[in-house]
Amino acid sequence: MRERVLSAAARRGMFLSPEALEIVLSNSDPPAFINNVLSNLANNPMFVTEEDVMGCLSGDAPAFVSPKTIAPRNKTRSDMTVIKGTDVTGESTCEGKITDFAAYFQDRYARLRKIIVNKRAFGGGDMPIENALRMDREIRIVGMVGDVRDTKNGHRIMSLEDDKGGHCKALILNDSPHIRDVIVNDSVVGVIGTPSGQGSKRDMIIVKELIKPDVPETNRWEPSDSTASIAFLSDVHVGSTTFLEKEWKRMMDWLKRNSVEREINYLVLPGDVVDGIGIFPGQEEELSIPDIYGQYARLAEYLKDVPDHILIAVQPGNHDAVRPAEPQPALGKVFTEAFDSNVIMTANPVYLDVEGRKVLSYHGRSIDDWIAGVQQLTYEDPLAVMREMVSGRHMAPSYGQRTALAPEKKDYLVIEEVPDIFVTGHVHGAGQMVHRGIRMINASTWQDQTDYQKRHNFNPSPAIMPVVHLGTGRVTMENFA
Ligand SMILES: [Fe+2]
Ligand SMILES: [Fe+2]
Repeated sequence: MRERVLSAAARRGMFLSPEALEIVLSNSDPPAFINNVLSNLANNPMFVTEEDVMGCLSGDAPAFVSPKTIAPRNKTRSDMTVIKGTDVTGESTCEGKITDFAAYFQDRYARLRKIIVNKRAFGGGDMPIENALRMDREIRIVGMVGDVRDTKNGHRIMSLEDDKGGHCKALILNDSPHIRDVIVNDSVVGVIGTPSGQGSKRDMIIVKELIKPDVPETNRWEPSDSTASIAFLSDVHVGSTTFLEKEWKRMMDWLKRNSVEREINYLVLPGDVVDGIGIFPGQEEELSIPDIYGQYARLAEYLKDVPDHILIAVQPGNHDAVRPAEPQPALGKVFTEAFDSNVIMTANPVYLDVEGRKVLSYHGRSIDDWIAGVQQLTYEDPLAVMREMVSGRHMAPSYGQRTALAPEKKDYLVIEEVPDIFVTGHVHGAGQMVHRGIRMINASTWQDQTDYQKRHNFNPSPAIMPVVHLGTGRVTMENFA
């Protein structure tokens, strides 16, 4: 048994300390337990300590909730499909009328409210804001944030509105544990608090608890019997003079040599697949292929090199030839005729079902807005931005920023289902972390630093391919730089 456990770790390039090994061996099913522990370790350490194992028994990474959760979940099917209702292609309803916006925000409110009122921390039903203001006791409301501002005394006031037209101010006192919570315009939050003020002038609620929709702390990656892996190649920017052809070739050679053995059967391109044309002033000077059709034709050529057993999904980003407003529909036929049949074109964002795993892929344009609007968020740490998206269960809440939002009847940017894997690109960073069981990835780029980035002191992390094992959830970053 000792050998089995140690070799399970060695296969992943990890070593167990003697103490860690003892704890594992004292379990009723050591092989299942060790697999569970290893796949839930956040940063893929080389040496697994007693603390790492104990951390998986409790707390952040509840890898071992009860004996019955050890049994691997059967994968549902061995392929990659778009999850129904998550892809706007051909489903767009908006004409940009005022009534479209009302329906759009109502849909967002309704779906996020449902998540909030079902949370244990919210502890019960909400009431319309108008009724809540008349109460002389603790109340629960759910509202969409109108605006947020700080007062001279360091308190924060936000305005909230519900779907019945009720509105109020909500005051977070400067000594509240929520005083530093990230709150952005047009997000939906739950409030437990008490109304204050006199008579008909009563329009304020003092916040005791601020409840975001978020993902349960107990959410975890359930191991499955999948043996395959999925890889991500974001921001390829074909057609740019700074496209990293040598590194791309190196990656492709590696894929040809290793994808069968490693069972890398799926590949996702989360947007900015080409550099586009007319995206920013003076872009002509930075294009090696000055024609948009030529750029997609070249990408189609590149993807013909991908071994045939690999299914590919291609998603647009802000450099691609579709409407810039999100959700973006899939690339049109005029651009995609040259692609092989193993390539599927999807919307941005989209949920994919890959062997029973939910993969949420979003190019990530809104990361710019999150960073511009929230002081503690930076380009150096896009994963922190992704954590905020998960916390508010929305990828691009704030309307009227750089990310144009199309008022569809359904808000496709709500993170309604908790994904197993959440991937973004756009900021040309490379990073991964496990957050509440979700494998979160920022999927690098195949474009070298541009002049614009140089002037703004922005250093990308190019030529890295993240790979996620669909059974264990282990993430590796293959570096071709
Ligand atoms: Fe990009
Ligand atoms: Fe982008």
